Amino acid sequence: MNNNKFKSSFGFLMAAVGSAVGVGNLWGFPYKMGANGGFAFLLCYILCVVIGFVLMTGELTIGRHGGKGVVENYRLTGKRNGWIGVLAALAVLFITGFCCTLTAYCMKYFLANLGTLLHAGWGINGGDALAYWNAFLSNGMEAALLTLLSVAITMVILFKGTSGIEKFCKYAMPLLVLLLLIVIGRSLSLPGSSAGLAFMFKPDWSVFQGTGWITIFARAGGQAFFSLSLGMAIMITYGAYLDKTENIEKNAALICVFDTLVALLAGVAIFPAVFAFGHEPAGGTSLLFVTLQTVFNDMGMIGAFFGCIFYLLAVIAELTSLVSLFEPPVAFITDMAASKGKSISRAKLVIGVSIFNLATGVLVAFDALGQGGLLQPLGFCWMDFFDLFSEGLLMPIGALAMTLILGWKLGPKWMEAELTQEGNAWRTKNFYMICLKYIAPPFILLVFAGQVSNFFNLGWF
Ligand code: PHE
Repeated sequence: MNNNKFKSSFGFLMAAVGSAVGVGNLWGFPYKMGANGGFAFLLCYILCVVIGFVLMTGELTIGRHGGKGVVENYRLTGKRNGWIGVLAALAVLFITGFCCTLTAYCMKYFLANLGTLLHAGWGINGGDALAYWNAFLSNGMEAALLTLLSVAITMVILFKGTSGIEKFCKYAMPLLVLLLLIVIGRSLSLPGSSAGLAFMFKPDWSVFQGTGWITIFARAGGQAFFSLSLGMAIMITYGAYLDKTENIEKNAALICVFDTLVALLAGVAIFPAVFAFGHEPAGGTSLLFVTLQTVFNDMGMIGAFFGCIFYLLAVIAELTSLVSLFEPPVAFITDMAASKGKSISRAKLVIGVSIFNLATGVLVAFDALGQGGLLQPLGFCWMDFFDLFSEGLLMPIGALAMTLILGWKLGPKWMEAELTQEGNAWRTKNFYMICLKYIAPPFILLVFAGQVSNFFNLGWF
């Protein structure tokens, strides 16, 4: 695997930021910020990102130290630690399918707006956005075919290993930012857009009252971990492809800063336009595919143009996350085979992992967000189920185990040996170790409790 290293710092950074930037930034963060105290939420979120930075540095360090797939990398931190890698690999496998389906949804809306622009019959052509969304959802076949397309594109990028990931992300991420800036320009220039900025940024300190601050921290923490792609074997796998000359601490900080900036920019692109046209703020799929599409319809023909740009940037955000989600199982199976003296070709592995992801993605596509799925009686849809399993359960358990191993078992000497190679400094050492040992573990438990409570509607916080 060592010949599969990232070739440049910029390439690695764009790949890691590409993994971090996804629907979490587009539809998760801006709405959560607006609905949970605005600027007050942002302050909490930034504190959570600091903990995220600690976890990210830890994951990249474990990855680069081992230089292999996630399970083997954990085993190299202690003979009995392999199971944490297994949890992380499972978390990735369960989350990937529905991310492929979400990519498919974004592709559909790119096409819907393109069709309008071309005056084609397959465009949305100003039709009612909610009706269009429901009709699309009930057509599982179309969503499944587009899921296949998203898997196929990811597969092609991945055949070439890190050089494919690097080449794609190096161009895709700057393009994404450029497209986002174009949408922001339009959104902010609309009359009445300031209400959207007020929704996102106006501080509401009352959210902290009583035990409210616990809820806010649990929400902000869950959002930050998801947004930074933590606890999912991803940063450990990418870390394994990182050159020893690279400064891990600096890279981790940059990834955290860029991811947060893109999340803020996404909010500034979305909410001013939503408010300018007098719509209600929303989160999740309804924000992206109903509210925003209504806004693009309201803008008339130019709206189709901005719709194309917006959904294209969403597709890019998702594809750069998908490559990071497909890679960990490929790396870890390669290693597992190697430890038994066997070698499996990369192409075969990429195809195998893609077929698995396609299968779960198609299941989610036909489930249509729970409308008529098998899990409906339980109050779940397949997407929620996979999300609960990976983001809700496996991710916090793995992240907690990592902090305990790094903070309490291996300690600062072990970390320092990896971090300070080739003359790199470890500037935040003391602060870092305090966070890792004393703050991160209880904080992860809080996020864990928040996720469980949220999924099962227990109303703990
Ligand atoms: N970080 C991505 C987002 O913010 C989602 C993701 C999670 C991608 C986990 C990879 C792994 O949307």
